[in-house]
Amino acid sequence: MTDRGNGHETIFTMEATPLKYGPGASEEAGWELKRMGVGRVMLVSDPGLVKANITGRIVELIEAEGVEVEVWDRSRVEPTDDSFQAAADLAAEGDFDGFVAVGGGSSIDTAKVSDLIATHGGEILDYVNAPVGGGKKPPGPLKPLLAIPTTAGTGAEATTVAILDIPEQRVKTGISHQYLRPDRGVVDPLLTLSMPPEVTSSCGLDVVCHAAESYISKPYDARPKPETPDDRPPYQGANPIADMWSARALEYGGKYLRRSVENGEDVEARGAMMLGASLAGIGFGSAGVHIPHACAYPIAGLKHEWQPPGYPEDHPFVPHGWSVIVTAPAAFRFTYDAMPDRHGEVAELLTGEKVENTDENTLPEILTQLMKDVGAPRGVRELGYTEEDIDDLVEGAMKQQRLLVGAPKEVSEEDLANILRESMENW
Ligand SMILES: [Fe+2]
Repeated sequence: MTDRGNGHETIFTMEATPLKYGPGASEEAGWELKRMGVGRVMLVSDPGLVKANITGRIVELIEAEGVEVEVWDRSRVEPTDDSFQAAADLAAEGDFDGFVAVGGGSSIDTAKVSDLIATHGGEILDYVNAPVGGGKKPPGPLKPLLAIPTTAGTGAEATTVAILDIPEQRVKTGISHQYLRPDRGVVDPLLTLSMPPEVTSSCGLDVVCHAAESYISKPYDARPKPETPDDRPPYQGANPIADMWSARALEYGGKYLRRSVENGEDVEARGAMMLGASLAGIGFGSAGVHIPHACAYPIAGLKHEWQPPGYPEDHPFVPHGWSVIVTAPAAFRFTYDAMPDRHGEVAELLTGEKVENTDENTLPEILTQLMKDVGAPRGVRELGYTEEDIDDLVEGAMKQQRLLVGAPKEVSEEDLANILRESMENW
């Protein structure tokens, strides 16, 4: 066979979760499960949603279709290996033939891991990405999982990863495999109406970063060809199909995030952000994220001192979207020269207008303005870090090679240190 790509990848794949979208879509959860052929499900949710009676309402709708439901409502905002384990134990013993997640990324990720352990057994850490975990691949498909997101952020309903915090190793990492992708997503913007402005801000900025990082990632055909199809990573680099999803998510983020933060009852804006989260989830599920997300892991994992406004006050932590956005301006200043046109396109998609004479500061300035407008933290310092922490943060970010290989240019420890230093205060 001739070498078509000179050692470079010549193939990309497009896999997406089938989605059902619209105000009221969650009322069809029971109908969806019945259609998926399941009779007894474990439903993963969190205490806040139980209190808001969102979980209870969905349980009723599912039971009305004759499907048995057992609720696990102890997902926490920032899952740890212990909280995953507790859910997985119930999953393994419960004799379920399907799973449902009602919640943000944490609940959806908890459901993915519960499903994995219930279906294939083993220890959670065996499956966690190397070098933190064993990097074992799930041997086959999981039981059906229906994801019903209640935040407009992670896009976890569309992705193949589950993120967890491992406190004893002071590291945040994940399990990543295509079998973890939920079988269906039901995306109902009415479920997000009660989300506080701070949560809306963090989740929405995560959406913007998913889309921008994917759009500005190393093209799939500039990456090395994997030895076997099995070695082709879920994050493959920018490709024409992922670009479409990311581009639309950028438009929505630029146009509707401010409105969603200003007025939570703005159903049009909520709907666009909810859909934007899923669109970006499909885009980055294919192309991948890189520098801001790689930096976000140690920013969220290293210190647990910051009590974020607007979130439950049960433990201090850095909300994911904010941990990502704080380094995005500096990261895109650094990557600008690798693909200037694409940085200009992202600037135009976010502003919805033609942007002339772009340079390395154009996109960073647009992102900084958006951060200011939606009340994001000013930078890494506000989250509890100083220049003295930069070495540790760099070390943590360098562990995310799975992500960093997707950056449009090579990233050294020194580059990351500069990005983090510039990100101490964005304004
Ligand atoms: Fe993210």
